[in-house]
Amino acid sequence: MRIRIFSTPRAAARALAGELARTLRARPRLVLGLPTGRTPIPLYEELIALHRAGRVDFSRATTFNLDEFVGLPAAHPSSYSTFMRRHLFDQVNLSRRRIHVLDGAARDTAAECTRYERAVARAGGVDVQLLGLGANGHIGFNEPGPALAARTHRTRLTRATRRANAALFGHRPARVPREALSMGMATILQARRVVLLATGRGKARIAARMLLGPITTRLPASFLQLHPDAEVWLDRDAARLLDV
Ligand code: GLP
Repeated sequence: MRIRIFSTPRAAARALAGELARTLRARPRLVLGLPTGRTPIPLYEELIALHRAGRVDFSRATTFNLDEFVGLPAAHPSSYSTFMRRHLFDQVNLSRRRIHVLDGAARDTAAECTRYERAVARAGGVDVQLLGLGANGHIGFNEPGPALAARTHRTRLTRATRRANAALFGHRPARVPREALSMGMATILQARRVVLLATGRGKARIAARMLLGPITTRLPASFLQLHPDAEVWLDRDAARLLDV
């Protein structure tokens, strides 16, 4: 894995937005995998700024979000779908029909997961998968455990993850759904390029374990070590336990 370290989260966001803009200019039909969470917000802000400046055009791009809470319709104020509309989709010129977010309110979640896998395949696979890093090492909602799901699936969230997502639910962990739909590990690892972004002191320990430790289902992000084109972009705080 290549590691890139920036002085601040903003510097990392600016550099990554610039790189994505260049990639989109070279390849307007880019298929992007997108994360939610606090970490990508500065990146989305920078992409919106570039778009407003006329320097990035999303009109032919396709996006697939990583995950969604089970039971929440897209319009629910706490859904990841709403998060994405607020932080990116409503402010750039992505075509609605090329935006894909799992439907957490689907009556048949297994069918919804299959539909999503097919949509990814129909789009020709993900070109650039952007990822955040859960404090417990999860990517998407692939939680640590004795085994990891390969494909898009329904999963139970750990207590720590529900706590980490409480801000979206009025800071009430008990309100965070107990289950989610998430792209699987194979879906993520089949992306042609993966960029994981992690910032802040709170991510330093898990980032070091992901990069330097063994590959284990107890730390799903450690599987990125197997990817031929994976990059980890850190700010100085998140990189403080790396000997670089
Ligand atoms: C959530 C998301 C993950 C995200 C993680 C980290 O649980 N499902 O995709 O990477 O949170 O969030 P943050 O960036 O807020 O630390």
